[in-house]
Amino acid sequence: MVKSRVAAVDVGNDALKGNFGKLENELYIPNVIAPDLEDRPVIGIEELDQKDVLDNIHIRVHSPALDENGIIYRVGNLATKTTNSQELDPGSSKSEEDQTLIMLFAALALDAVSTEDFKEKNQVIDALYTLGTGLPLREVKEGKDVGYRSELLGSVHQVEFLITPRYQGKKVNIKFEEVKVYPEGFAAYVNLIMDNELKVINKELIDKQILIQDIGGLSTDIAVIRNRNVDDDKAQGFNLGVSESLEDIREEIRSKHGVELDSRRDVVDIITRKNDRHHIMVKGSRTNVHDITDHILLELAKKEYRFLRNVWAKNSQSEICYFVGGGSAVLKDYIKALNNKLDGFNIEFFEDENESIWMMANAYYKLISDFIRKAEPVKDTKEEKATSKAK
Ligand SMILES: Nc1ncnc2c1ncn2[C@@H]1O[C@H](COP(=O)(O)OP(=O)(O)OP(=O)(O)O)[C@@H](O)[C@H]1O
Ligand SMILES: [Mg+2]
Repeated sequence: MVKSRVAAVDVGNDALKGNFGKLENELYIPNVIAPDLEDRPVIGIEELDQKDVLDNIHIRVHSPALDENGIIYRVGNLATKTTNSQELDPGSSKSEEDQTLIMLFAALALDAVSTEDFKEKNQVIDALYTLGTGLPLREVKEGKDVGYRSELLGSVHQVEFLITPRYQGKKVNIKFEEVKVYPEGFAAYVNLIMDNELKVINKELIDKQILIQDIGGLSTDIAVIRNRNVDDDKAQGFNLGVSESLEDIREEIRSKHGVELDSRRDVVDIITRKNDRHHIMVKGSRTNVHDITDHILLELAKKEYRFLRNVWAKNSQSEICYFVGGGSAVLKDYIKALNNKLDGFNIEFFEDENESIWMMANAYYKLISDFIRKAEPVKDTKEEKATSKAK
């Protein structure tokens, strides 16, 4: 029997973040898909193979878990270049969208074709995973995690690579040995207080009442942690993330400077890069756009700050609020400035924006690895030794 491979996947509204096999083995794919309406022009294998795999994810997906089965999709960067690309809408439920599954299966298939863990026969790879993933608190509260999990566990999901460099023509059959669906807020808490072996590293924090504000692409979730658990009744989700503001910035740059930026990602680059931040080129001249980015991000920061105030008022005994998610990285300076001027809450950001962005995926990795360690009976290690001797 094939041994299952560990996967920890955060299907964010903005981007999928995944760890496969080892924590260092990462995948980051923008959460954009486009059903293929026209045939994608076939190009020579040699030319195709020079291209980047992640820029050319082109797949057909078969799965009973999908509402629409057997459709061809462009995924990630390739999808952003089409006119019919789909991004998730605020208010949609992750657990009920085909898009969530397409992203998840695409990522697992990409991992499966590139690892030595699974054997390939006639271009077909049978992959077996133990998956740790998550859903927003709101959906877990509604009990949607149960259906989502059984949908994944219940059948084989097939990804066929079409016009994708290196993997063209390969099929991956994905099966799950086990699936764990964690609530997002709880996962962030675990990541804050525990190391990779789930040893408590943050003793001061463990019994405190804390808030975790996760500012994502399309949503903001504030989890309330009390007695080492997420307080379901107190947690709040808001349909507001940074994507809308990035779109506004793009629009204002277009109308003011006549410059068309390709995507929201270009905007993120302009507001976060180390060199030449808040500048764009206009007809060959370096131009400052700080006035635009500043007022739009400040507006958003004010709204996010209002959420914090609101939740803190209802949970007055909270000791600290941690800001996580890519949105926190973008809004850090604005929210800090507002807080200094206004309430002076005890709030904390992560120095490294990657830590904010990878918080969930890394937490799922810790949780699922721990689950595997505990589930592994001692005899397994013996068997392993026996087979390695046999080789
Ligand atoms: N390196 C970065 N530095 C700063 N901001 C970033 C960076 N990468 C992404 N972002 C921005 O942070 C935003 C949120 O990213 P994040 O990955 O936390 O969202 P998500 O988890 O996909 O969405 P959600 O939590 O709503 O499901 C994105 O819209 C992106 O523009
Ligand atoms: Mg997120």
